[in-house]
Amino acid sequence: MNQANSASSDSNAQKRASAERAFTEIEDGSILGVGTGSTVDMLIDMLVGQKRIQIAGAVSSSERSSAKLNAAGIEVLDLNSVGELDLYIDGADECDPQGRLIKGGGAALTREKIVATASKRFLCIIDDSKEVAQLGAFPLPIEVIPMARSLVGRAIVKLGGHPAWRQGVTSDNGNWIIDVHGLNYADPDRLESDINQIPGVVANGLFTQRRADAIITSGRWREPAAD
Ligand code: A5P
Repeated sequence: MNQANSASSDSNAQKRASAERAFTEIEDGSILGVGTGSTVDMLIDMLVGQKRIQIAGAVSSSERSSAKLNAAGIEVLDLNSVGELDLYIDGADECDPQGRLIKGGGAALTREKIVATASKRFLCIIDDSKEVAQLGAFPLPIEVIPMARSLVGRAIVKLGGHPAWRQGVTSDNGNWIIDVHGLNYADPDRLESDINQIPGVVANGLFTQRRADAIITSGRWREPAAD
């Protein structure tokens, strides 16, 4: 096995260990908030592959996860019809010691933020590579209304960032994604709010105001540190 293949098989094993640990938190008969990505895909496979836990349904954060849930015979419910959820499980692209996240590598950030915010508890499941001392090496995804792409880009430059349009990608909501490098993360809570103020921004991938309540990294559980 070459080095790249071995790193990716380590990462997959770590993601699987996190999904397995998160699986033990799911209650029989509950409605589960389901995130998006390869780690969550493993969790969905576990829901299908066993008989112990039968969830009553799921609220999904993307068309990708909905298709996988539907194929598995798990009913996908409208968030408007279920109210507050007990538990949301999702991956992340970066996670800092305080449980603040960058998400949206898979372009599902807006629905992910909605379902996370609608949930009492948010468990974040990641592999070792996602743990960072400070957010910001991963470019921050921002979902924008298409006509506002260049307007948002100019506003981001004023904030000190370097925007790049993720060409060829349309979100599940029919919008576009801008990936931003070079932002200053000294005050991530303020940065999340400032970006949200730009007209045309639908959501940004900083999860500081609705951060993770617990993080499972390669199967290891930890609570977020205080700010
Ligand atoms: C989707 O838009 C992202 O927020 C994902 O949660 C994130 O990219 C994690 O994906 P993996 O589980 O594939 O690493």
